[in-house]
Amino acid sequence: MSRTSQIAEFYKLDPSERLKLVREFANLSDDEVKVIQVSGGLKLDLADRMIENVIGTMPIPLGIATSFLINGRDYLVPMAIEEASVVAAASNSAKMARVKGGFLTSNTGPVMIGQIQAVGMKNPFAAKMDLIAAKDEILKKANDQDPILIKLGGGAKDIEVKVIDTITGPMVITELIVDCRDAMGANAVNTMCEAVAPIVERVAKARVYLRIISNLATKRLVRAKAVFDKEVLGGDEVVEGIIHAYAFAAADPYRCATHNKGIMNGIVAVGIGCGQDIRALEAGAHSYAARSGRYSPLTVWEKNENGDAVGTIEMPIAVGLIGGAAAVHPVAKANLKILGVRSAIELAEVMASVGLAQNLAALRALAAEGIQRGHMKLHARNIAVTVGAKAEQIDIIAQRMVEERRIRMDRAKELLDELTAKSSR
Ligand code: MEV
Repeated sequence: MSRTSQIAEFYKLDPSERLKLVREFANLSDDEVKVIQVSGGLKLDLADRMIENVIGTMPIPLGIATSFLINGRDYLVPMAIEEASVVAAASNSAKMARVKGGFLTSNTGPVMIGQIQAVGMKNPFAAKMDLIAAKDEILKKANDQDPILIKLGGGAKDIEVKVIDTITGPMVITELIVDCRDAMGANAVNTMCEAVAPIVERVAKARVYLRIISNLATKRLVRAKAVFDKEVLGGDEVVEGIIHAYAFAAADPYRCATHNKGIMNGIVAVGIGCGQDIRALEAGAHSYAARSGRYSPLTVWEKNENGDAVGTIEMPIAVGLIGGAAAVHPVAKANLKILGVRSAIELAEVMASVGLAQNLAALRALAAEGIQRGHMKLHARNIAVTVGAKAEQIDIIAQRMVEERRIRMDRAKELLDELTAKSSR
């Protein structure tokens, strides 16, 4: 099989046929196929070691977004999410992006910031200077904590020190700048922060309280860009609508929250599928969106000289391939193999591309027919299943409810009763 991620009518296959194609694409082993097939793939004893007070596991649907072409490479993208339409939307946008070459990405490296909070010093600005002068000692202590990271080319590279005013008085914040390579970095950075705290206390003549990573990962940014052909999008009007939708988000925080939520639909779904800390992703995304003091869209939409829509995204995406659930959850491991990413930063770039694709799909739908038709189709199917419809009854009932615009349990039940009565005649 050729390694294209553009698989015609993938959505029409049944789950086992889809998995067969994914297996060929990613060269999955029998065991990897099995963990994906067995609902959730996470055994209880492993779950019991991952968190506390475990009573079970809770699977959610895992879909594959097709057609992603990123920096000239094809990706099938695993997305774990409970919301309908997200996987289809990502695939559809990715297919449209291919027409003009797909997604192009860049990054600032896998660099995280750890903060050490010092309080109670008499002269905060003098303490700041003394801490900067102690940089070599601080970096050496930090790097002594993680020889493997250093061997891989990572580690604490620099410090930054700032004085901030707070309601409890001035504080001196020392920031460790740590290249985390293929780790998300929370463990490495927190360990380093705790290790250097006594040096900070001694040098600043202060009391240290917090020693912790920052999720506002401004030194771990990824960017993606894609051009969407105006004809493929549906013409000038649609492009115009997308630009107006972006302008609305840029001007109004109420719209902007939803705009960014749509982006995170894609990013979080890949994050869950690949065993990432999605709370860290959300915290990073929204704090970055508000970094200027005004909550702003994570994407920008412009029109080029041909009238095509050009979308760009820039945001922090702190993800890892080693450590955490990515390294232990069998389905996350299989998903990373399906993606075929070779580094954490490549994973982050794929996620940024998915976020941009998701945003395009949302804005295009909202600016044209709205999102409810697509949503409602699946919603109607779910309602039909809930009232007990089976096999072909599901589609018949769902379609009738969509046509009638009455997508409700009572109507689904009526239609099911009618169908059952008809078939027993
Ligand atoms: C729904 O989960 C996401 C959208 O609301 C995003 C948006 O409005 O841009 C469709």
